[in-house]
Parts: sequence; C-alpha cells; structure tokens
Amino acid sequence: MSQTENESGLPFQEKIVPELLRHRVVSPEEYMRIYRKVMENPQEYWESMARELDWFQPWGKALDDTNPPFYKWFVGGELNASYLTVDRHANSWRRNKVAIIWEGEPWDNGPKEARKLTYLDLFREVNRAAYVLKEVYGLKKGDRIGLYLPMIPELPIFMLAAARIGVTFTVVFSGFSAQAVADRMNDAEAKLIITADGGWRRGKVVPLKEIVDKALETTTTVKNVLVVRRTGTEVSMKPGRDAYLHEVMTKVPVNAYVEPERMKSEDPLYILYTSGTTGKPKGIVHDTGGYMTLLHSTMKHVFDIRDTDVFWCTADIGWVTGHSYIVFGPLQEGATEVMYEGAMDYPEPDRWVSIVERHQVSILYTSPTAIRTFMKQGEQWITKHDTSSVRLMHSVGEPINPEAWRWFHRLVGRGKIPFGSTWWMTETGGIMISHAPGSYLVPMKPGTNGPPLLGVEANVFDDEGKPMPEGKKGYLVITKPWPGMPLTINNDPDRYVKVYWSKYPNVFYVGDYAIKDEDGYYWILGRADEVLKIAGHRIGTYELESALIQHPAVAEAAVVGVPDQVRGEVAEAFVILRSGVEPSQKLREELVKFVKENFGPIAVFKEIHFVTKLPKTRSGKIMRRVIRAVATDSPVGDVTTLEDEASVEEVKKAFHEFK
Ligand code: WT7
Repeated sequence: MSQTENESGLPFQEKIVPELLRHRVVSPEEYMRIYRKVMENPQEYWESMARELDWFQPWGKALDDTNPPFYKWFVGGELNASYLTVDRHANSWRRNKVAIIWEGEPWDNGPKEARKLTYLDLFREVNRAAYVLKEVYGLKKGDRIGLYLPMIPELPIFMLAAARIGVTFTVVFSGFSAQAVADRMNDAEAKLIITADGGWRRGKVVPLKEIVDKALETTTTVKNVLVVRRTGTEVSMKPGRDAYLHEVMTKVPVNAYVEPERMKSEDPLYILYTSGTTGKPKGIVHDTGGYMTLLHSTMKHVFDIRDTDVFWCTADIGWVTGHSYIVFGPLQEGATEVMYEGAMDYPEPDRWVSIVERHQVSILYTSPTAIRTFMKQGEQWITKHDTSSVRLMHSVGEPINPEAWRWFHRLVGRGKIPFGSTWWMTETGGIMISHAPGSYLVPMKPGTNGPPLLGVEANVFDDEGKPMPEGKKGYLVITKPWPGMPLTINNDPDRYVKVYWSKYPNVFYVGDYAIKDEDGYYWILGRADEVLKIAGHRIGTYELESALIQHPAVAEAAVVGVPDQVRGEVAEAFVILRSGVEPSQKLREELVKFVKENFGPIAVFKEIHFVTKLPKTRSGKIMRRVIRAVATDSPVGDVTTLEDEASVEEVKKAFHEFK
C-alpha cells in the first residue's frame, strides 16, 4: 500500500471493512448528521450515559456552569467508584467472572507467576484494603494517600479501596525517582504512601522502598509507609513508620466489609500529576460522577466492550491511560481484563504476543512507540503466535505514523479489524476524539484520530480564536465542557485558569497542533508547547533541565525534543558548564546517568552538547524554539528578540560537532 497525498497533504482514504460488524459503519456525512443532532443538546446525551451507572442518589442538574471554568457535573448526585467497579458485579451474575488476569514479569519457560481475580475476589480484596486504610491507619474522607507501586494487583486494589472510603489517591509512576515522589507527596499532602520492596523490570529489581526512603527525607506530611512484598528484596523498615502489608493483613478479617462512602458527584477521586511548559508538574484533580460517566461512554462506544471480551490495555497504571482503561473503565463495565507487570518484550520480543495468545485477548489498546519497537524487532515474532482472537485495536499517547498503523493492522489486525488512534490527555480524563467501533464507525484512514466522539465539541483555532479552514494546521481546542474534565489543579486554581482557559475565552486550550480534514476527521500532530513526548510519556523541559542543573558540573541547561524513529521524540540538551569544569565524553555519560537516577529512566537523551552561551531573549528567557530549529536542522526563523546572535552560532557548532 503506498501513501498518496491529496491537496491538503493528508493521505488518501483507505476504506477498511471491519470484520465483525457489531457497529454500524457510516459515512463521514452520516456520522456528522448524527453528531450534530446529539450536539444540539450534549447534556442530554451525557445524562443518558450517566443513567446507566448506579447512583445512590440521582443528580439534579447535569451541568453546573455558574462558576466557569470550574464546571461541576451531575450536581446533587451521589455515587461511589469502588461500588460501581466492584460491588455491582460481585452482587450480580458476574460474581465468579474473572475481573483481572494478572501476569508477572518473571519468565521460566512460561510466566512464573499468574493470578486470576474474580469480581468476588476483587470485592473481598478491596474491602480488606479499605479496612486497612480506615481502621489501621485511621484515614477518612478527604484525606490523601500516595501509591508508588509496580503493576501488581495491589495497585488497583488500593486505588479502589481509597475510592471506597473517599480518600483521594495519587499514583506516582514507578519509573519516577525520589525527587518526583517527594514533590508529589508534598503537593498532595499525602499522609500514607504505599509501595513495594521492589518491582520487576526486565529481570532487574527497581528498589522502590529505597527510593521512598530517600523521598521521605524531604516530605512533610507522610506519616506511614505500607510495603507490599513483591521481589523479596531486603529493605530497611523504620519502626513506627513502616509496616509490611502481609503483616498488617493478619489482623484483618477475611470477610471484612467497609461501607462505600456516599460521594458527591463532584467530590475528587484522584490527583494525577502531569508536566506542563514551566514549573512543577500540575496535579490534575478528577471528579467522581463526570469521570465515571465519560469512562462508561468510551468503554461502550470506543471499545465496544462485551462480556465475551478479554480487554488488554498495555499502559502502566502510573499514567492516566492505566487509571482510566485498566482500573476504572473496564472494571466498571464488569469486563475481563489482562494486567501485565513488566516489559512487553521481556524476556523475548514476543512476550506480549504470547500474552495475547495465552489469554485470547480480543481488544488491544497499545501505543505507537510499542508498535514501532515491534516493527524494529521484526514480524517473525508476531507470526509465531496466533493473534486471531483480537477483534478491535486502538493506540494512544502520540500520533501514529501511517507506516506503523499499516504494519500493525496487517499483522495483528489481519488487514480488516477496526484500529483507531484515540486522542485524549491526562486532563480530559478519557477519550475525546476517536473512531467508535461500538456505535457509529466511520471508515478509517491510517494515522488519523477520527471525528470527535458524540458529546464532545472540538475545533482547530488560529491564534485569534478563529476556526482554521479544513486541511490547515492550528491549535486543538475543546469548546464545550465535558464530563471527566478536571475540577482544578491541586492547590493552584489560578494556574488551572491560566494554562487551559485563558488563551481563548470559555474554551479549553489543549496545547496540541491539529488539522481537521474535509471529512471532519482530526489529525493531532503533537504538542504546540515545549512539552516532550518520549515514548508517549509527557515530560516537561523544565523537569529535565532542573534535573541537569542539580549536577555540580552544570551551570545552565536547555532541553528540546527531537524526533526519534522508535520513541517518537527524545531529549537533546545544551549545557553550560560551571567555570573550571572541562567538557568530556565521560561527563556527558555521567550527566545522562545522573538525570536517569534523579528524574527517572524514562528520560532518554539523544545527545548532550556543551556550549558557553544559550540563545536568550533580552529578558533572559531561553529561546528553545531557536535551539529546537538547530537541533532538527530546520530554519531558525525570526531571531530579532535575541540578545546575542553569536549564541545561535555556538549552538549550531556544538550540534554539528556531535550529529
Ligand atoms: C498528549 C497527552 C491520553 C493518554 C496518554 C497520554 C498526545 C495522546 C494521542 C493520539 C496524537 C496523542 C497529545 C496530548 N496524544 N493521544 N492518539 N494521537 N497525539 O496522556 O501524558 O496527558 O499526554 O499526548 O500530544 O496532548 P498525556
């Protein structure tokens, strides 16, 4: 299949006829007609979705918009996310249905460890965990806890346990280091942190407890540490502060029951930190009623979830994808899902394919970076196994290039199943722009995100807030409130307004470039700000720069993102050394190692360059745009605001020396 370009520079439509016609295949025009009809009253649509949840108390008004942009959904309604995901199914015919098929990473001619939890098992585990939080640690509604755990069942169990008693949790990705843990615990004012002795990653132990010990040197609110034994690694336990979960559990009745708290729809469910352009990560606060409604709607329409399915989202729960599409989304639907602990290609590149085959995965949700990695490893790893159980796929996290889309669609999708690229972000809570094989599916085009989902109003604006013509690049915006939207940024409502609601009045500014084509499909092209997307992970330039300048040899640093074949993007740094420090290859390597240790292994550098000056504006702001242009061999553009033009030459020289 060759990619032909039309006038708008977009690939021609390739019509793919889905194999299992559970949905209605509609033309883009037909979809737009249905969509417009729904959008005459989106709140009515969202209410119809919300009605399919189980509320303790029905809501009064669908949307409270009296204090924009602090919108509240389903005000007056009461519900509990743990009740919806667990009790509802444990009290139904799904009681003995498998909820989670967990597979550990260690491998010995086959997975060394696996666990299957039915909905009844999950109910009991969540209740016992809630008992621990409530009765052992005395936590109550409104308190906050931190979770720094590997991909083991205890992670969703404690998320659901916290939700059960109204405790707001914040999960820190287990690939982040001590500083990130400390910052998040302090900002969230967490009283307890739950971690593990270690986590498995590519056969090696990540010393999670040790990292927590280091983080706790600078935290102010954490009183206790609860430790799950996972790897059996020897760890130091501080008496009075630290306890092992299995020891605490001996005091918990097997059939403990903890009443689910009646939460208001607009009560917070969790805080999840995400990088922005400047400053520390933002603690995005998600509500309960709106969030659960959006997840229900998207599980149904985007994933077409059914009781016969085995759903597998390959993300880590440390990111929003895992929160929404491993924990709250699929479990709310009573689905059977796979949860895998480790690296997709450990110990061999076909580990993930073997999981698909072993568990007969029917819905697969993965990322472009993963797909590009598989492509590099070669198709023989895929064809070794039978993947014909897969009936629907989506990718997420970054734009998917048409080559990767075609390759994966041919190999795993047998050239015919629905395969989309779902656009959303930490802030939106759930999928916003996507193909919807569960309801009205429009023909796919490799690389597109498709049209906005029913109920979601998006657009592409120019700088002034005027809609861009079809086929022209602009800023992606969401022009109507949606359930699942943030409540605020933790401790910083002003920043919430400033970052998302100030570029255009009453419109949510996303921070992505996008094109809308003649069929109403969106093509989201990537970040319009200085946020990096390394392997789909959002990392702020600020975070990497501040990690670099903590090294004693570094005086100043500027980081930009540059394209990478597999990871989509990687970091390239320009560093000014302190006087007296000599640049060397050894120092370069040391800095890379230092950042990985201090920020986390997800920081991947292409190169670190040493310079004596950086391009800055007269007011002293680093002009990353200029640096990025140099590092990507593109025209530097307007530099009239530059303080010192020689700095550009220096950056160029440093870059070309090491290309
Ligand atoms: C950013 C949000 C949503 C869960 C994972 C990422 C990019 C996300 C797509 C997609 C093109 C995408 C955007 C967005 N992005 N999905 N299907 N096509 N770009 O969540 O870490 O909050 O990152 O990811 O740039 O702004 P996140």
